[in-house]
Amino acid sequence: HAHLLGIEPLAPSDISTILDLSDRYVDLNRRDQKHSDALAGLTQINMFFENSTRTQASFELAGKRLGADVMNMAMQASSIKKGETLIDTAMTLNAMHPDLLVVRHPQSGAVDLLSQKVNCAVLNAGDGRHEHPTQALLDALTIRRAKGRLHRLSIAICGDIAHSRVARSNIILLGKMENRVRLVGPSTLMPAGISEFGVEVFEDMREGLRDVDVVMMLRLQRERMDGGFIPSEREYYHRYGLDAEKLGHAKADAIVMHPGPMNRGVEIDGEIADDINRSVIQEQVEMGVAVRMAAMDLLARNLRAKPKEVMA
Ligand code: CP
Repeated sequence: HAHLLGIEPLAPSDISTILDLSDRYVDLNRRDQKHSDALAGLTQINMFFENSTRTQASFELAGKRLGADVMNMAMQASSIKKGETLIDTAMTLNAMHPDLLVVRHPQSGAVDLLSQKVNCAVLNAGDGRHEHPTQALLDALTIRRAKGRLHRLSIAICGDIAHSRVARSNIILLGKMENRVRLVGPSTLMPAGISEFGVEVFEDMREGLRDVDVVMMLRLQRERMDGGFIPSEREYYHRYGLDAEKLGHAKADAIVMHPGPMNRGVEIDGEIADDINRSVIQEQVEMGVAVRMAAMDLLARNLRAKPKEVMA
């Protein structure tokens, strides 16, 4: 693959290849000396048109640990503010010969479009409601390490599915790896046509969590609700907030996940989030650096194998 735009184009063997390499980078990241030269001589530009803590920091650390020259574009301070378009901005940076462009953008499809205009490898760091592939990969790595496998697991994704690129990428990945995916949440936060994805849908959280291996919580993404249905936080927490009682319906060894940023007391009880016997939220963050190192390493191998002009 020339780019990492989504989980959709990946085969199960591609996913396993990325996760196997990520495991090796987890080991490297736990050493005192964290450096490799997999990206030595290459230039990585991070362009985040939406806020980020985890994705931006981990892509930056990943590039630096692999020896790339990493530049973070401060998009709020860029000439986008003077009316320059996304594509013109990307073409301008492309003329500086980057090798890897990491892009987050509020519009679904914007990163795909950009990848067709530039002649470097593009990694999607989240585009609108479409995909967030490195998030799904880091979630998969976390699950595989906690459960010892990534197939035939029962996984509940709970909350605001409709606005979530994290849910979409996870549904696609977990389905490709032959897991049973349940979606739990109010019908107003379920996307239209979701049954086509081969998932089960539950409005009742206790039913949806019954005997699952993994509980994945999502934030209410108010920034994408554009004036539509916005539930009250109290009512939402009562029906869909993960607390000890609701978690009691899952398997006794079920793990609790959240991609972050989380809103304590809205979709998750703070004590559950901090319970090191159940919550793997900090492990997810750790896996995020390793997965991004693996993804960029594999794209760089592809770059080095092909002259730029013939890249699709
Ligand atoms: N999970 C995630 O994408 O977090 P950030 O928005 O902080 O990058």
